[in-house]
Amino acid sequence: MSQFSHVTVLVGAQWGDEGKGKWIDILAGEGGADLVVRYQGGNNAGHTLFVEGQKIVLHQIPSGIFHPSQTCAISSGVVINPSELVIELDRIIARSADVTPDRFWISARAHVITPWHIHLDGVSESKTTQPIGTTKRGIGPTYADKASRIGLRMGHYVQVRTCQEWIERMMENAPGFKDFYRDTQDQWQKFLGAAARLAPFVCDAESRIRHAAQSGKKLLVEGAQGTLLDIDHGTYPYVTASSTGTGGAVASIGLAPRLVSQAIGVAKGYVTRVGEGPFPTELKDDIGKQIAHRGQEFGATTGRPRRVGWLDAVALRYVVEVSGLDAVILNKLDVLTGLKEIKVATAYHHPEKGKILELPWDAEVLAQCTPIYESFKGWSQELPASGRFADLPEETRIYIKGVERLVGAKVTMVGTGPNRENAVYC
Ligand code: GDP
Ligand code: IMO
Ligand code: MG
Repeated sequence: MSQFSHVTVLVGAQWGDEGKGKWIDILAGEGGADLVVRYQGGNNAGHTLFVEGQKIVLHQIPSGIFHPSQTCAISSGVVINPSELVIELDRIIARSADVTPDRFWISARAHVITPWHIHLDGVSESKTTQPIGTTKRGIGPTYADKASRIGLRMGHYVQVRTCQEWIERMMENAPGFKDFYRDTQDQWQKFLGAAARLAPFVCDAESRIRHAAQSGKKLLVEGAQGTLLDIDHGTYPYVTASSTGTGGAVASIGLAPRLVSQAIGVAKGYVTRVGEGPFPTELKDDIGKQIAHRGQEFGATTGRPRRVGWLDAVALRYVVEVSGLDAVILNKLDVLTGLKEIKVATAYHHPEKGKILELPWDAEVLAQCTPIYESFKGWSQELPASGRFADLPEETRIYIKGVERLVGAKVTMVGTGPNRENAVYC
């Protein structure tokens, strides 16, 4: 291993959609990476980039793909929908990105989302008395089969014999699979048809990634979802099915944790959440509507309206700890422009437990909490499209310093618009 490691992990610091895609694209473009690795989740993610003014939403491909000198990889902790990945690849290639097997690696260890898993996700959401509000992309059932040791991995999916053996095993062992398989042949043909196209990209990606790290290459590791949706550390059961925090990155790549040189969390200057689950600072009034409208808060994957609320410093402090954040990027501050007052939750009040300073482990307890706010003065002038901390209005600077104090981490960058250029350096 070279003397210095250059591994930066970038995670979502809230419940997703913080702007990870934009920031991966920016950091990768600034020479921050030779290799961009996506380490968990699947096509439940929607990461939006603007490249030369054109909007692109990536679901499975790492957000560094539009920088031609960089390699992109999908590591073992990701679950892959093959036919959707082919669609995404074609869309990217049509936008002039050169995607060849020497610059796009898909882990042979990554598990495959099949039509069966998508079916199970839909059934479990519609039948339960406690829906999670999943994206219905088959994410949970695919990770469940992985943990049950009956999943299909990419390396086996792209080989006809091993893929067929998996289907046969499922017919014998999974109740309902046989009938479903027989009745959904069109879906399976599409699914199986993507294998030949993806086969050239499938490799021992983790070994290649480790070798790249050992030879001094810079790694930028891209999280999906957010730390509050982490299967262990999030607001269970209202979470996704993978390890979204920084720890998930090293597990997915098989990288020594000490090699992570930096962890960055992206948070909005407010909070959004899609799907069910407790959200203490949620705003259901006109201010919430105004933020949702200005921030265009609709899901990049499902189009569902995102729930909106004030920044929650209790939750963000927790994420700083859980994901070991060295820095926070405070994104979408332009959305707050024009508000007279901006609130940040510093603690919660619980009817029985009184004042709470730490995020409770129990979603039911969290649902009973009401926020205790600190108030900041808003700003009315438009924020600069790019620049330095000193270029920001005084009220914005006071707000950023307040957030740093409340969450215990440095805010190193601020987002002031959806484009690559819209970054202010603090
Ligand atoms: P991700 O899943 O974390 O990559 O985030 P999404 O792409 O789902 O959602 C972020 C949304 O905010 C996208 O529509 C972005 O284009 C947009 N966006 C990102 N950064 C900024 C910003 O600083 N200001 C504004 N107004 N929009 C932003
Ligand atoms: P990005 O990467 C926001 C949410 C779903 C649901 C829960 C479980 O764009 O930030 P799942 O389909 O994963 O089993 O759903 O997680 N969720 C997201 N919310 N952004 C995402 O991804 C999300 N991916 C999953 O809405 O509440
Ligand atoms: Mg998103």
